[in-house]
Amino acid sequence: MTRIAVIPGDGIGVEVTHEAVETLKEAARLGGRPLEFEEFPYGADHFLRTGETLPQDGFDRLSTFDAILLGALGDPRVPDNRHAADILLGLRFRLDLYVNHRPVRLLDERLCPLKGRGTKDVDFVIFRENTEGLYAGVGGFFKKGTADEMAVQQDINTRKGVERIIRHAFEWARAHGRRRVLMSDKSNALTYGHDLWQRVYREVAPAYPEIEASHMYVDALAMQLVKDPSPYQVIVACNMFGDILSDLGAQIQGGLGLAASANLHPGRIGLFEPVHGSAPKYAGRNVANPIGAILSASMLLDTVGRPEEARRVEAAVAACVREGRTTHDLGGSLGTREAGEAIRAVLRARG
Ligand code: NAD
Ligand code: IPM
Ligand code: MN
Repeated sequence: MTRIAVIPGDGIGVEVTHEAVETLKEAARLGGRPLEFEEFPYGADHFLRTGETLPQDGFDRLSTFDAILLGALGDPRVPDNRHAADILLGLRFRLDLYVNHRPVRLLDERLCPLKGRGTKDVDFVIFRENTEGLYAGVGGFFKKGTADEMAVQQDINTRKGVERIIRHAFEWARAHGRRRVLMSDKSNALTYGHDLWQRVYREVAPAYPEIEASHMYVDALAMQLVKDPSPYQVIVACNMFGDILSDLGAQIQGGLGLAASANLHPGRIGLFEPVHGSAPKYAGRNVANPIGAILSASMLLDTVGRPEEARRVEAAVAACVREGRTTHDLGGSLGTREAGEAIRAVLRARG
């Protein structure tokens, strides 16, 4: 039995996760192999009530599941976002989920904000390093709160960390018939950390002779992705740049409401979550788009060895998007629940 831990989290995370879980149940039912779910309360409410972010015993229990499905974390009542750092970044780091896999695929021409671009032009994958870089939490304050204050945030780049994400990008490209990988960094300014990225990239690329390996500075890449996203197939970048590029990617596929992600360490438990956050202004209003969460759930299905179910979910999402049976952000008129139900209705109708 595949066991899934569910952390709905904060804000719209709760609503979109509900739709993702219901969709997983439907896909599993149709596939004839049920899934087992257990919900965990971690998030802002739990933190404010108990002082607990992610307790050790909770982490230990979460680690025993086959996969974790997460909504979003972030709440204006926790301005320093401490609980999100402990729960979301904590899970990524402590489970050593070094791959943040973020697909960018335009499902319908109508949703692309770029003039004259169609579905063939926007279809790439971002592999974001997910365990180090500026996110490592190495740093500190000096003379905090005084006029002489100094804040240091170290950018940690290890050979092992850089190599494994770059290798993963090539391996994925090879396994999925993609012919181009692009590494994006800022080695012209970050002359130590990103020099390491340059050297490792040049060392790894020759092992994949069938794949064209290129490089672009991240500022130029941001510009090119808006000008013409069609040449890109696989992009690999450090934690921070991967984060920023994935919101840019989200918008060119129709918005944050659609963007999915998987945090992976091949062969181990994965953490699946939409790219978007808790969008506090939409919380509890039944307006958030559940598709990012539902497509993250389909990435979960792939990872736990249920590719047919994953394809069915994706096809149902694509059908609803094409037919305009969506939430307002995509031009539809449905609420979160109704948009989720529309996707499940397509699943059921196709059997
Ligand atoms: P956000 O992604 O929550 O929302 C930004 C905007 O994008 C929203 O105002 C809305 O217009 C749109 N949007 C996002 N998700 C949508 C959806 N499902 N349907 C329709 N529209 C959607 O980003 P933010 O406002 O910068 O952050 C809010 C909080 O979420 C912050 O606390 C932030 O730290 C946190 N956050 C958490 C995660 C996560 O848990 N994975 C990711 C990003 C941000
Ligand atoms: C994401 C989010 C997180 C990140 C935040 C909430 C810490 O933006 O998953 O993209 O920066 O990784
Ligand atoms: Mn982000």
